[in-house]
Amino acid sequence: MSLVRLWRAGVLHCLLWLLLSVLHADSHPQCLDYKPPFQPQEPLLFCKEYAKFGCCDLEQDKQISYRFDQIMDYFDHSGFMVCGKYIRSILCQECSPYAAHLYDAEDANTPMRELPGLCRDYCSDFWHHCRYTLSLLTDNNITATIEEDHDKFCDFLELKDPEYCYPNVLASDELNANLGSVKSDPKGCIQLCLQEVANGLRNPVAMVHANDGTHRFFIAEQLGYVWVYLPNGSRIDRPFLNLTKAVLTSPWAGDERGFLCIALHPRFSVVKKAYVYYSVSVNKQERIRISEFLLSSMDMNMLDHSSERTLLEVVEPASNHNGGQLLFGLDGFLYIFIGDGGKAGDPFGKFGNSQNKSTLLGKALRIDVDNNDDGAPYSIPSDNPFIGEKDSKPEIYAYGVRNMWRCSIDRGDPITGQGQGRMFCGDVGQNKYEEVDMIEIGGNYGWRAKEGFSCYDKKLCLNSSLDDILPIFAYPHKLGKSVTGGYIYRGCEMPNLNGLYIFGDFMSGRLMSLKENTDTGNWDYTEICMGRDKTCRFPKLINSYYKYIISFGEDEAGELYFLATGTPSAASRGGVVYKIVDPSRRAPPGKCSIKPSPVQIKGKLIQFHPKEEFVINKKPTTTAPPKTKATTIPSTTRFQATTRKPTTASPRILTQKPKVSRPTQKPRTPTKKPQTPAPKPTLKPLMTTVLRRNQSPTGALQPLNSQSTTVRPQYITTLKVRSETTPRRTPPPTTLRPSTKQPHTYWTASITATTTRPVYWTSASMKTSQPTDRPRKRGRGRGRKNGQRRGKGGRRRHRSELVRLVSPDPNRSDRGRVEIFVRGEWGTVCDDLFDYKAATVVCKQLGFARALRVAKPAEMGRVATNLRILLDDVECEGTERTLLHCKHATFGQHNCSHAEDVGVVCSSEEEHAVK
Ligand SMILES: *[C@@H]1O[C@H](CO)[C@@H](O)[C@H](O)[C@H]1NC(C)=O
Ligand SMILES: *[C@@H]1O[C@H](CO)[C@@H](O)[C@H](O)[C@H]1NC(C)=O
Ligand SMILES: *[C@@H]1O[C@H](CO)[C@@H](O)[C@H](O)[C@H]1NC(C)=O
Ligand SMILES: *[C@@H]1O[C@H](CO)[C@@H](O)[C@H](O)[C@H]1NC(C)=O
Ligand SMILES: *[C@@H]1O[C@H](CO)[C@@H](O)[C@H](O)[C@H]1NC(C)=O
Ligand SMILES: *[C@@H]1O[C@H](CO)[C@@H](O)[C@H](O)[C@H]1NC(C)=O
Ligand SMILES: *[C@@H]1O[C@H](CO)[C@@H](O)[C@H](O)[C@H]1NC(C)=O
Repeated sequence: MSLVRLWRAGVLHCLLWLLLSVLHADSHPQCLDYKPPFQPQEPLLFCKEYAKFGCCDLEQDKQISYRFDQIMDYFDHSGFMVCGKYIRSILCQECSPYAAHLYDAEDANTPMRELPGLCRDYCSDFWHHCRYTLSLLTDNNITATIEEDHDKFCDFLELKDPEYCYPNVLASDELNANLGSVKSDPKGCIQLCLQEVANGLRNPVAMVHANDGTHRFFIAEQLGYVWVYLPNGSRIDRPFLNLTKAVLTSPWAGDERGFLCIALHPRFSVVKKAYVYYSVSVNKQERIRISEFLLSSMDMNMLDHSSERTLLEVVEPASNHNGGQLLFGLDGFLYIFIGDGGKAGDPFGKFGNSQNKSTLLGKALRIDVDNNDDGAPYSIPSDNPFIGEKDSKPEIYAYGVRNMWRCSIDRGDPITGQGQGRMFCGDVGQNKYEEVDMIEIGGNYGWRAKEGFSCYDKKLCLNSSLDDILPIFAYPHKLGKSVTGGYIYRGCEMPNLNGLYIFGDFMSGRLMSLKENTDTGNWDYTEICMGRDKTCRFPKLINSYYKYIISFGEDEAGELYFLATGTPSAASRGGVVYKIVDPSRRAPPGKCSIKPSPVQIKGKLIQFHPKEEFVINKKPTTTAPPKTKATTIPSTTRFQATTRKPTTASPRILTQKPKVSRPTQKPRTPTKKPQTPAPKPTLKPLMTTVLRRNQSPTGALQPLNSQSTTVRPQYITTLKVRSETTPRRTPPPTTLRPSTKQPHTYWTASITATTTRPVYWTSASMKTSQPTDRPRKRGRGRGRKNGQRRGKGGRRRHRSELVRLVSPDPNRSDRGRVEIFVRGEWGTVCDDLFDYKAATVVCKQLGFARALRVAKPAEMGRVATNLRILLDDVECEGTERTLLHCKHATFGQHNCSHAEDVGVVCSSEEEHAVK
């Protein structure tokens, strides 16, 4: 082969590979409730392979396990051994992180499959070994017509996507690499999605909560309004605060003056005070004012507008760099972040304002606003760092600040508390660098000696007494020109984001993140991108935002939001509040539920109407407009998910079930050589039942007679005669009725004895035995709760769980230790409170007319069983069909010993016959 050919082959291979990876790069874990998968809070006991990450919590796992038990109950031991694993795997696919794909349930508007999509080979194996079990897995009447036909059978079950079908989906490296971790694009950009929470806002500058259990949130607009939002997104029409008259601002895009921040007292439910930071003009002098308001005594959603008390005013030498952050630290003190006074390069005085501790400009301040009702509006915390320093303002907490825009306090790791109380700020830079700082007491943050890590004023910068604290991160102006500080995510709903500092840039619209490397102490940078359509294809999510990122906010539960606008003017209603959502993993169900305390509302509520198009409603063919460069900013620029043309959707199958007619010919021989002999009659539930009568005590099957295929029709005939109206006490069919002449020690109740269950082997009897109004398919947009697939109308065909009586006296078949068959194994029932009613259930299940009594342990002889104890705490009414229909402890869980194994004595005589 020539080099060229080799090269070509290589290129072709690469192209193919690229094509394939494009086709399949869209792994999208999703549960049947349309939400991302999670790690269950308690370990799963049944579908254990999904215990780390999947779609089931313990409750759902138990339901699946219960269903499995019900189905397994149709099998004897060998059937259990052969088919159990298939049935378990198929049932457990509800818990797969790819459940939505396996069930074709990603789109709420199309019908979903009843059973998870299998790979062809796996389906063939399933068909060869256990084809007759299909009717146990689905209520679809199609099963009777396809179970004999391998191709139809597998057409029904196959998911024609070789990578996503079960079990290949488990083996695909692509789909399982980093499963459950936050998703990144090929460049490493973290893919997140958004939810629109509020809109129509005029330069929303701040979002805060009251920390009072109401889960209200308060959003401030630059022109001087603060609005109250309820946790359901409704807004109260009357403003919490209306300072529009006093606030100094203008509609000019880029005006840094205005109402800039609000902070509610950290114990707001007790100390009903709010603090605000805004620009005012006093005698034609521009100032910033920090003042205090009291909550109205009439309305918990409004401040008393007449209660304003000014704490502090600082003259602004220029109209820019007004700072604008207020927040309470964990120490309960109020922190105030004030800009350097404006213009460029901090030109004031000998070395600027920021390094001059005689002025409040260019500083972070800390004051104590508690107990201020009499006298001074605030006091100086006794450990403020520069109290004793001559010519220094005592309010100063840190200096060398240029124009810190948005600071936050770390709530700390939810489990370890690590990081709690740390204070992070974005400090807007001059010409070259934007920085993120962690604020410490007495710290010098370098301005104007330094901008980011580099020197700005060389002389100051080289002075050995500068002793500044470097930023944790700085970025050059090609990434953005005005940092907006964010939060360390510590909420509950997005476990992957814990510890991630998420922030943005006002000018470039870039969302960014920093994560502390606890080994090196460095903060590692990762960009945040909008997830692609497929990644964000969850209800209510969007994947684009307006680019002027003004601020970040947390709700009371710690979930993270940002506030952005398409038109950065205090007069334009282009502002939107977005909630940040991680599509790759959610918290386990129930973990993050909140119960907001009630809010008394005066005035009207304005319901929230999202304006952005949900990803889930987007036409798959839409191509998003190209990403706009940072330098050219049309007023409504938005960030979109990176635009790659949507690739082929995975094949949609089985939205219409294949049409089948009853097979008239013999089942065709499988094209593939079966790995094991074709289905044995013994695997067929009805067959095992019949055979079971002759089962030896060890569970091995003994051939009864030459019966094989002839048994089935017989059986069906028997069943057809029986119906629900058959009196309960009617003895079971003669072939199965216990008789005193029977030489067998072991008795098992047969399914035919007490139920009409097997009707669904015959399609004819289907119609009458099945409710026809059962919702088989989800309707348009209808979801399901908790991923539970079937409601009451679903498959819940109970049948007698098998029981037998084991007696030391082989001549007495009417009495003995009660043994029960659950999940493929025989075991005992041990319950010192086992009563007559429970005994009645056992005896009737075995075909006796009634129970005489509960047997004494002595009657059952020495217990020499190596069976497990399977059942304890049985409480029956006496009318249940089987013990498993009575209340009982979880299978296998007990606190008794074999010494308390129960036995019964039954009677075939009706009561009146006993004299
Ligand atoms: C299955 O049920 C549907 C409606 O529920 C019915 O139209 C169809 O004829 C049934 N098919 C068979 C084979 O019984
Ligand atoms: C939101 O919550 C409030 C208070 O509980 C209630 O009065 C209002 O009807 C709710 N709005 C919506 C749209 O659910
Ligand atoms: C806010 O106050 C101004 C005057 O102080 C008033 O004109 C305006 O109507 C008020 N806005 C609202 C929504 O109450
Ligand atoms: C520091 O600021 C004060 C107050 O503005 C001012 O009077 C003083 O001259 C400044 N000092 C220097 C060295 O610039
Ligand atoms: C360095 O800074 C200190 C304190 O700000 C000042 O006293 C000193 O003169 C400076 N040295 C030089 C060489 O500028
Ligand atoms: C069972 O019955 C047979 C014959 O009726 C008798 O020989 C045998 O002893 C009995 N076995 C027991 C354990 O009573
Ligand atoms: C253990 O025994 C106690 C009382 O004896 C009972 O309440 C409890 O339900 C039992 N637990 C199990 C699992 O059997």
